Amino acid sequence: MKTVISILVTANWLYSTSLAADLSYIGNKTQVSIAGPSPRLSLDDGTTFVGDSISVNAGFQAQEVSDPVNSLAEQRKYEGGSNLNLDTFTEPYTIDFRYHNFDRMTKFLRQATARYPSLTALYSIGKSVQGRDLWVLVVSASPYEHMLGKPDVKYIGNIHGNEAVSRELLLQLIHYLVTNYATDSFVKWLLDNTRIHIMPSMNPDGFEVSKEGSCDGTQGRYNARGFDLNRNFPDYFKQNNRRAQPETEAVKEWVSKIQFVLSGSLHGGALVASYPFDNTPNSLQSYSAPSLTPDDDVFKHLALTYSTNHVKMSRGVSCKTSQTAFRRGITNGAEWYPLTGGMQDFNYVWYGCMEVTLEVSCCKYPPAHELPKYWEDNKASLLKYLAEAHRGVQGFVVDENGNPIEKASLKVKSRDVGFQTTKYGEFWRILLPGVYKLEVYADGYVPREVEFMVVEQHPTLLNVTLHTAKPWQYFDPPVTSPPKTILSVDNTNLPVAQDDQIQFPE
Ligand SMILES: *[C@@H]1O[C@H](CO)[C@@H](O)[C@H](O)[C@H]1NC(C)=O
Ligand SMILES: *[C@@H]1O[C@H](CO)[C@@H](O)[C@H](O)[C@H]1NC(C)=O
Repeated sequence: MKTVISILVTANWLYSTSLAADLSYIGNKTQVSIAGPSPRLSLDDGTTFVGDSISVNAGFQAQEVSDPVNSLAEQRKYEGGSNLNLDTFTEPYTIDFRYHNFDRMTKFLRQATARYPSLTALYSIGKSVQGRDLWVLVVSASPYEHMLGKPDVKYIGNIHGNEAVSRELLLQLIHYLVTNYATDSFVKWLLDNTRIHIMPSMNPDGFEVSKEGSCDGTQGRYNARGFDLNRNFPDYFKQNNRRAQPETEAVKEWVSKIQFVLSGSLHGGALVASYPFDNTPNSLQSYSAPSLTPDDDVFKHLALTYSTNHVKMSRGVSCKTSQTAFRRGITNGAEWYPLTGGMQDFNYVWYGCMEVTLEVSCCKYPPAHELPKYWEDNKASLLKYLAEAHRGVQGFVVDENGNPIEKASLKVKSRDVGFQTTKYGEFWRILLPGVYKLEVYADGYVPREVEFMVVEQHPTLLNVTLHTAKPWQYFDPPVTSPPKTILSVDNTNLPVAQDDQIQFPE
C-alpha cells in the first residue's frame, strides 16, 4: 500500500533529497509517494528522486489523495506558506524510551505508518478540547479493512492525562508488533487474525500539562475543561449529568461504528486489573461490595490474564502501605471504589465489548529512565490479553438464503447482557469452556435458541440461520431484546454520526 500525497504548488518551492542537492521546481500537481523505507518524489515531468528524506519548503497546499481504501487513513492537509518537513514520514523508523509529547507522538505514529504501510493505518477519531487529534493506529495484517469473521480489539491509554506510562507502553507495543511480525509466530498469528486499534492518548491536552516525576496528584488528569473523562460516559446504574466532552463523544461514536470484542483501558497509580462493574445499583454503597456482571467468570479470567502475565501484578503489590493489596492483582471495580460514568461499564453494557481497566504503574508519571522496566513488566500481559478475543464463540447470523442479518440481538442464556451482529451478520462472545445456549432474535424472523460447546483450544464456530416469520409467528419475542434482568439499555438515543462525517477502518 502506498501513501500518496498530491501537492498543488502555489508558489516556487524547493525540495531536497539526500540524493540530490537543492533543486527548484515550479509546477502544479506533483505527486509525492512514500512507500516503505525509500521515499520517492516524482514531478510532473516524470523526474523521480528516491532518498532517505525529502523536505519541501515554501507556499503550497497539499492534501492526501483519497481513494475508497485510503480514505480511511489519516487525512493529511497542509496549507499556506510554512514549511512542510516530510522528514516526519521518512526518517529512519525508531522509538526511544522517553515520553512523547503530542508532536513527538504524532511524528512516531506517522513514521510507523510510513515504515510499515502494510501493517498499519493511522486515523483520528476527533479532536480534544484544544484541537489535538485523537489518534488511533491500527496494527493488523489488514489495517484498512475489517477481516470477515475476525475480531477488532482496542487499547486506550492516557484517559487521565497524567497517567503517562500507559501512553508510552502503547507506543512501545506498536513498535513491538510491527517489528516482530516477520519473525515472531505469535505476533504474526495475532496480526493475521485480529485488528488491533491502539489509541495511545485519549487525553492529549491533559498530558501536555502533566509533570514528569509526579507520581500522585491530579495535575493533567482532567481534560482541558477540567472534566474527568472516565466519569463522562453514560452510566447504566445512575444518571450521569456531567456535560459530555469532545474526547468522550469521539470515543462513543467510534465504538458505535466498530464492534470491538475486547478492550483494555490503561491507567496508572495502582497495580491491578479492575473489571466491571465500576458502578453499582446500590446508591448507599461506598466501598468493598462487589458489583458483578453476568459474565463475571469471563471478566475475572481476562483480568487474571493480564495480572498473571505481568512481572509482578499478580503478587498483589500494594503501592503504598495505606493502599489495598489486591489478591492476585485483580479486583472488581465497584469493590475497589464505585464510580459513575466510567468507560468500561459503558463498553460492556452498550456494545457488549468486554473492557478491563488496567492499572499499570504505581507511579503515574515516573522519570523516563524507568520506562524500559515498565515495558518489560507489561509486555507479555499486553500481548496475551489481546489474544483472549479468540476465546469463546463466534459466527454469523444469516437468513434462509445465506444473507447476513445485521443487528440481530444475541444473548447467551443466563448472561443478560446482550450484543448484536455486525452488518456482515458476524458476532463474537468471549466465554470459558462449557456448554451454553445462544438466544438469537431479529425483527421479522422466528427466534432461535442454539446450544453449543466452548473448548479451551480454539473458538467455537457457530452459524445460525433464522427463518422468516410467517404473519402468525409475529408473537412476542421469547428472546427479549434488550434482555430483561439487568439490561434495558436504549442505545438508540446515542448520537450516531452520519457515515459521511467520519470514516473509520472497519
Ligand atoms: C498552476 O495552477 C494555477 C491555477 O490552476 C495556474 O494559474 C498556474 O499558472 C499554474 N502554474 C504552473 C507553473 O503551471
Ligand atoms: C459460516 O458462515 C460464513 C459466512 O456465511 C461462512 O463463510 C462460513 O464458511 C460458515 N462456517 C460454517 C462452519 O458453516
